[in-house]
Amino acid sequence: MSATINVNQNILEMEYAVRGPIPQKAAKLKQEGRNIIFCNIGNPQALGQEPMSYYRQIISLLEEPRKIARERALKELFEESTASDLRNDDFIASEILDLSEEILAKTGKGLGAYTESKGYFFVREAIADFINRRDGFAPESGLLADPEQIFLTDGASDGAKRVLDLLIAKETDGVMIPIPQYPLYSATIKMFGGVQVNYYPDEEHDWALNRDALESAYTQAAEEGVNIKAIVVINPGNPTGAILDEGSVHEVIAFAKERGLAIIADEVYQENLYGGEFISFARALGDEKSVALFSLHSISKGFYGECGHRGGYLEVRNTPMVAGTALNFVDLLLKQASVSLCSNTVGQIMTYLMVSPPNGESSVRQQFATEKEEVLGTLYEKAVMVREAFKKMDGVEVFGKTGAMYLFPRLNKLPAGTDDFGYCMALLEETGLCTVNGSGFGLKNHLRIAFLPSKEQLEEVLPRWVEFHNKYVKG
Ligand SMILES: Cc1ncc(COP(=O)(O)O)c(C=O)c1O
Repeated sequence: MSATINVNQNILEMEYAVRGPIPQKAAKLKQEGRNIIFCNIGNPQALGQEPMSYYRQIISLLEEPRKIARERALKELFEESTASDLRNDDFIASEILDLSEEILAKTGKGLGAYTESKGYFFVREAIADFINRRDGFAPESGLLADPEQIFLTDGASDGAKRVLDLLIAKETDGVMIPIPQYPLYSATIKMFGGVQVNYYPDEEHDWALNRDALESAYTQAAEEGVNIKAIVVINPGNPTGAILDEGSVHEVIAFAKERGLAIIADEVYQENLYGGEFISFARALGDEKSVALFSLHSISKGFYGECGHRGGYLEVRNTPMVAGTALNFVDLLLKQASVSLCSNTVGQIMTYLMVSPPNGESSVRQQFATEKEEVLGTLYEKAVMVREAFKKMDGVEVFGKTGAMYLFPRLNKLPAGTDDFGYCMALLEETGLCTVNGSGFGLKNHLRIAFLPSKEQLEEVLPRWVEFHNKYVKG
């Protein structure tokens, strides 16, 4: 018999539904030869989304810099030759070659060396410029993003973990999270031994955040002895897909100010809007200096979907001082980041490319715009297809504007004795569609579907889902 070992109880007890029993069952069915459509996670390229050529061409040249000179030489040969069948656009554009050289020079020794613990300075500068452009911060506004308050991370999950790790100091320290929520937050709070304090966006009013809901969650937890330190907001939402209106964003800021809370703004879906408007917390905060803000962004979502490359950033505004010390929170984030040396360099460069899209009228810029439009346009069409299918399902309602990559319908007519977990399992077994039950995000009688499979796959599976559903709810 092998020896036993005691482990961190928090990790033993934490749960992570998007990779939980339903997806595990789906993986097993797939192994047995079933055709499974994985809609349990926002992992676009796993479902066939093409990467942006611009990002991949540059990354490949940075990884193998000798190819830059080789590409130039080949192109010269082609231009001198009359016998070739090749066309100009079979070669990597000079603009990409020049830019790759420029980036390479900025990295110093290329992608194989550790960087500063906060990440490459030139990337942090580009992120600051991006935030200033996005939020309309003028030089004299006093609101400009500061590269020294920005950390490159291995994805937004890493950024969230860093902040929560520092914030949760005692087992009575609490963090407010929306329900339904992305399980990164519940799992991480559990991992660091803090208290999860649930608040409830108003489903029937587009998942808006109102003050009463925030106050009642706060007061109840405070009465139970929880010392609440921060509130997490996910905008656009996961799992709801909902885009927060301006009123909700301001409501959170006013609440955080009054209660002395930091805000953790998870804004990884800021490009997935399909016509809605994104209001960043940085912009809404404006010159309000008393509320600490931690904003997260990532290369995993948007139209780029570079989940596997693990890149993103954390921006801190209104950095608080650390009680009992002369240090501020960013000093401590730096200390913490130093232990891992730096985040991965490809993720850092991907983040650089995310915040510095090509501009001007070049063919590179045109190709970029075409690919971007194609990805976002198709995502929206697929969301509409799924929404249309819901209309044919008995007792299914879905609220909020479409954002992110998800729909989170309410199942109003589950037969007595059944629940959303059973429904999703049966749906998987019957149709091969792998979704996640609402309870996995903290809200029963719902499910989440990521609208990422191809249109052809959806065309094939949606009628079967409608048929399954209407039979299931009859009991
Ligand atoms: C709201 C939200 N935050 C963070 C993440 C994780 O992002 P990353 O891949 O950058 O760690 C996800 C992934 O689905 C998400 O939905």
